[in-house]
Amino acid sequence: MLRIAPSVLSADFGSLAEAVGSVAPEADWLHVDVMDGHFVPNLTIGPPVVRSLRRHSDLFFDCHLMITNPGEYLEAFRHAGADGCTVHVEVGETSALLAEAKALGLRAGLAVNPETPYDAIDPFLAEADLILCMTVHPGFGGQAFMAEVLPKIARVRAELDRRGLGAELEVDGGIDEDTAGAVVRAGARVLVAGSAIFGDAHPGTAARRIRLAGAKALAEAT
Ligand code: DX5
Ligand code: ZN
Repeated sequence: MLRIAPSVLSADFGSLAEAVGSVAPEADWLHVDVMDGHFVPNLTIGPPVVRSLRRHSDLFFDCHLMITNPGEYLEAFRHAGADGCTVHVEVGETSALLAEAKALGLRAGLAVNPETPYDAIDPFLAEADLILCMTVHPGFGGQAFMAEVLPKIARVRAELDRRGLGAELEVDGGIDEDTAGAVVRAGARVLVAGSAIFGDAHPGTAARRIRLAGAKALAEAT
């Protein structure tokens, strides 16, 4: 199954509820980028915004925590209405963070930056509900897709399948209708897209185009 997760990072923060509504019919999940100005050089959304959005949407909230100390905020995000929280392997304490997220009833995700090797996440594949391979350097929307991450995506897919693990495999960064095919062929099944969706005059239509491109690649690959 292929999932499209529009990233609100590229939406108009002055009209977030409207932006989410515009894409909801074509979205499987809503990707919410949380940045702390420390793990990445940008500041974005915290639990209060998630709580506000929750009142306007029933979508699965896929919160991507680009923060140094996610353990201090998992509970707050859960109470605000997050469905899944993804922490970065680069911040450490991975097993404890994934266990805490699961204990809170969250879908526990593990993200890996483009330059971080596959070996860093290998020990945690069985502990995570989702693996997120970044295909740009985290921090900003609208960057160019990094094709050099494709072998790592393929490696994660191969290992998940080989070990019979059911974790979702998500990609994030530079995904549009032109790059969707390559990441799906590599094994990704959840596609995050920000600027390609909210930078379009018709976000729902843009999300649908990405889904069609991904679905085509999936049909050819299986
Ligand atoms: C970047 C964020 C992404 C971002 C992707 O650090 O994690 O979710 O919104 O934006 P695009 O799709 O524009 O690359
Ligand atoms: Zn993200």
